[in-house]
Amino acid sequence: MGDIYPDLARVLISEEKLQERVVELADQITRDYSDSDDLYMIGILKGAFIFLADLARKLEVPHIVDFMALSSYGQTTTTTGAVRILMDLREPIEDRNILLIEDIVDSGHTLSYLYKTLLGRRPATLRTCVLLQKERDALDVPIDYLGFSIPDVWVVGYGLDFADKHRTLPFIAELKPEAYEGT
Ligand code: PRP
Repeated sequence: MGDIYPDLARVLISEEKLQERVVELADQITRDYSDSDDLYMIGILKGAFIFLADLARKLEVPHIVDFMALSSYGQTTTTTGAVRILMDLREPIEDRNILLIEDIVDSGHTLSYLYKTLLGRRPATLRTCVLLQKERDALDVPIDYLGFSIPDVWVVGYGLDFADKHRTLPFIAELKPEAYEGT
């Protein structure tokens, strides 16, 4: 990726492909929730903020947006499976139609934890929309809407980061292994 992004290996998903897929997902969600007037979308910070913003603006059903912040494995490649809520929802979700928005499922620990936690709050329905899922051994998590399956490489852009860098790139890129080896 030349001089501008020396730590990126290649573009994995272009801006155009991302936007096309977001529209397809939004159409599918609009159809599925056409009878609903209380869709409650929950974005998981920080990674999901760009995907959620684009997706929500393409939806043609009434919805509100809320966020949760979690911590999982920080800035290293070592995943412990430990997940902690740093910031919770503003409202109770009992009897509401919940759509959880995540940027990526990697080990599956975050989504698994979130799913169980939110289910315990007794929503009317709980579905998940995930932009990227890595092709690797992971926890079996329920994904209702999936953007792309990707190889098991470190990806950045469109919300995803490496040590908080590259989050606002409009495309998804693969990080060079030497950029994160040893972290
Ligand atoms: C990333 C990503 C998911 C989670 C997926 O978040 O946004 O929430 O990891 O990994 P898992 O399937 O192995 O649990 P991260 O903790 O990096 O925080 P961030 O979104 O604030 O960057």
